[in-house]
Amino acid sequence: MFIALEGLDGCGKSTQLRALAQRLRQCGIDPVIVQEPGGTPVGEKIRVILLHQEKLKMTPLTELLLYEASRSELTETVIRPALAAGRWVLTDRYALSSLAYQGYGRGLDLELVRELNRLATGGLNPQVTFLLDVPVEVALRRKGSMRDRVEESGVEFYERVRRGYLTEISRIAGGVLLDGQKEISGLSEEVWSYIRPLVAVPS
Ligand code: TYD
Repeated sequence: MFIALEGLDGCGKSTQLRALAQRLRQCGIDPVIVQEPGGTPVGEKIRVILLHQEKLKMTPLTELLLYEASRSELTETVIRPALAAGRWVLTDRYALSSLAYQGYGRGLDLELVRELNRLATGGLNPQVTFLLDVPVEVALRRKGSMRDRVEESGVEFYERVRRGYLTEISRIAGGVLLDGQKEISGLSEEVWSYIRPLVAVPS
């Protein structure tokens, strides 16, 4: 199984990913956990270029291509081999992030982003994608570091990203919209309620 968690910075997806991994381990499944951008030697270098505090100025297309390069490397060298070996893979962000941030947020052509997503993933899609939806102000309050990025990109940018996520999550196969404002343990129960049926009961 390949499962993705998505949402605005500060939506709580990293916490939910850890909780889900813990539940899986209790069922005897040791998931491979990855995060985008990054997760490979090249990807980690790209992550520094993209997210370093002194963010380099770049065009939206350059930004998209860097995220896609990181995704391609991660997909080919980590995710596909893990899935082929029968492992579960949990990812903190995947191709939907590029559609939301670079497509809806930065205003790049959505078809172009979809096409590059297809190229980078080789058509691999998570079976389940959870969107933890929170209002932009809530994400802002939760995550101090997001303030710097908001100052760079503006609150409207994050509003567009959120709208993009909400539009797309209902269209993708296996998309699940969750209220990220719910308390942590209730939310992890909800996540688990979607995943538990997918865990094979040992005979
Ligand atoms: P990160 O520090 O991992 O944020 P978080 O832990 O909140 O998810 O940084 C990821 C940042 O990169 C986040 O601001 C979203 C952005 N991003 C894109 O703009 N496009 C993408 O395709 C991906 C994967 C991430």
